[in-house]
This record gives sequence, C-alpha cells and structure tokens, in this order.
Amino acid sequence: MIMNVCCNHLVILLLLSKMMRSSIASASIEKNDLSFLVIADLHVMSNFAFQSQNDSPSKIQLWKNLTTTLTHIRDNYMEETDLVIAPGDVAAFGNISNGEFMSQTGLSDENEAVYDASTTSYTKTNELYQGAGFGTYIPCVGDHEIGGNRGFVVSGQKSKFSSISSYRHGWIDSFMKDEDGSFKFNEGVSNISSRPPENSGFQGTSYAYRRKNSLFISLDIFKVMNDGISDYYDRSNGYGGEGAITSTLEGLHSTWFESILKAARQVSSIKHIFVEAQSLLCILFAKPVVVDVHFGDSWRNTV
Ligand SMILES: *[C@@H]1O[C@H](CO)[C@@H](O)[C@H](O)[C@H]1NC(C)=O
Ligand SMILES: *[C@@H]1O[C@H](CO)[C@@H](O)[C@H](O)[C@H]1NC(C)=O
Ligand SMILES: *[C@@H]1O[C@H](CO)[C@@H](O)[C@H](O)[C@H]1NC(C)=O
Repeated sequence: MIMNVCCNHLVILLLLSKMMRSSIASASIEKNDLSFLVIADLHVMSNFAFQSQNDSPSKIQLWKNLTTTLTHIRDNYMEETDLVIAPGDVAAFGNISNGEFMSQTGLSDENEAVYDASTTSYTKTNELYQGAGFGTYIPCVGDHEIGGNRGFVVSGQKSKFSSISSYRHGWIDSFMKDEDGSFKFNEGVSNISSRPPENSGFQGTSYAYRRKNSLFISLDIFKVMNDGISDYYDRSNGYGGEGAITSTLEGLHSTWFESILKAARQVSSIKHIFVEAQSLLCILFAKPVVVDVHFGDSWRNTV
C-alpha cells in the first residue's frame, strides 16, 4: 500500500474486518484473494485541466514520469491486481481560481469552465491508470476535487462555493459513469443498493463496489451546512471553519451506509469491508486543532 497523507486533512481508510479476521495475510491464502493499491493525495492531475496546455513539454514530461512510476509499481508489486483505491485529492483544484478556469478554457460561464477542466483532468486520470495496467479505479471525493481549500467560503475572493455542484458533476461523469452515461457501480449487497438514494444528496458520489472477498465503500462526506447561506461554525463542539462545508455523515446517507454494512456482514463470501472517506482538518481559534469530522454515533455500533 502506498499512502501519502497531506497535512491539511485526514484520509480515513477503515478496514472493517469480520470475525476478528483482521489480517490481510489471512485473506491471501484463500482462492478469493485480492490485492490492491492505495494512492491518496496524488494532487497532480489538475495539471492536466486544460486541453490547450496538455501537449506542452512540461506536461508531457510529467505524464511520462507518472506513467513510469505507476507502471513500475504495477509490474513489480501488484501481481494480478488491477485495482486502485484513491481516498481523495487526485487533483488540486483548490489552488486554481474559477477565473483561471474561465480564461484557460475560453468558456465565459464559470460552471461550464469548472466542468470542462475537471472532466479533462479526470479523463487523463483514467487514461493514466489504464495505461499503467490499473483497469479499475475506485476514487473518493476529496476537498480539492470540489474546490477546497478556502473555496468553501460562501462569499469573497476565494469562494468557489457557487460551483461546488459543477466540480462534483465533472467527477461523477468522469469516474462514476460508463461511456454511454450509465452508472458503473450498480451491484449492491443483498437488497441494499450500491448507492444511497437520490434524495440523500450523495447519490452520485458515494457508492459501494464488490470485488472477490472484499467490499469497498467510498463516501463523499462533504456536506453544505446552514443551507449554504452562511459559513458554518460550531465552536462549542469544534466543528466548522471551512466555509459552509463540513465533514459529516447524516440522514439518508448514513442510513444507507449502515444498511450496506449490515447487509455485508450477513454475506459469508464478503470477508473484508474497506471504507474510504476524506475529512477536513481545520484549525479554529476556539481550539488549537480540530478534526472536523462528526459521523453520527449510530454507525459506530453497527460495525
Ligand atoms: C497546484 O498544486 C499542485 C500540487 O501541489 C501543483 O502541482 C500545481 O502546480 C499547483 N498549481 C498552481 C496553479 O499553483
Ligand atoms: C520527471 O522526473 C525527473 C527525474 O526524476 C525529474 O528530474 C523531473 O523534474 C520530473 N519532471 C516532471 C515534470 O515531473
Ligand atoms: C432488505 O431486506 C431486509 C430483510 O428481509 C428487510 O428488513 C429490509 O427492510 C430490506 N431493505 C430494503 C431497503 O428493502
């Protein structure tokens, strides 16, 4: 596994192993064996956001370097696996302004420019991994994919708040859908859907994926608070500080998560459950360092 955790947030990768069967080694002796690669916080794919620049010598060199590295990992460490888990931040859109997107793409509509740049970056991401022999890419929405850092403030110079849905739209269309526009990850567990319901607000960006003896659940835990009217602070609990977005798992989203975990426990061929999510890590004046994540308490009791 390769984990490269950036300083401004927390990558959560939980291994929820059933029946105290916690070691990956124990799985490797079974026929149902699975190995996979974890690459978090690659960040660099936003360097390929603009078609017009992608043939420049520096981008070509960056592409070659990435291909060499991934191919080396694939050939030397991965045996038969083609599976990559990416717990957030394959891109770094946080340091590119929406104005820059507009000027580089030539699109005068901010949201069209954001969509264009994100789909261009993610199309290159798919090509990169496929080219290196990793055919299955299981990404998770990171804050930098939806315009963070500081992009989550409701208004002001750094705000990208009004474009968050366009950032997500680009991510969904590139990573979650087949060429014909249908969702790729449709296999649920028993009678529980692979995706939360539409009115959960996270239908396109949280999902489950089953491969051999393992279930992977990828969660988008970035939620708009205060109906997006004002930035969110809950100083008494130490939450907030990233504009109107916080990291949480609530309502129908959390109900779906609990249901699929419970259903997976009942399926004897699922030996391992992996959950990927990315959380904001905020510094507030109220407390020295605050990990801004507040999963509902109930899900803890289900695992
Ligand atoms: C944004 O950050 C990434 C990763 O740190 C870096 O490769 C890229 O050059 C930066 N882009 C800009 C416009 O600063
Ligand atoms: C590519 O890798 C070489 C050798 O490690 C390094 O010198 C160069 O700066 C890298 N170029 C890019 C664009 O990443
Ligand atoms: C799935 O099946 C279980 C057991 O039969 C049932 O209790 C539950 O309500 C069903 N859930 C859904 C979402 O249909």
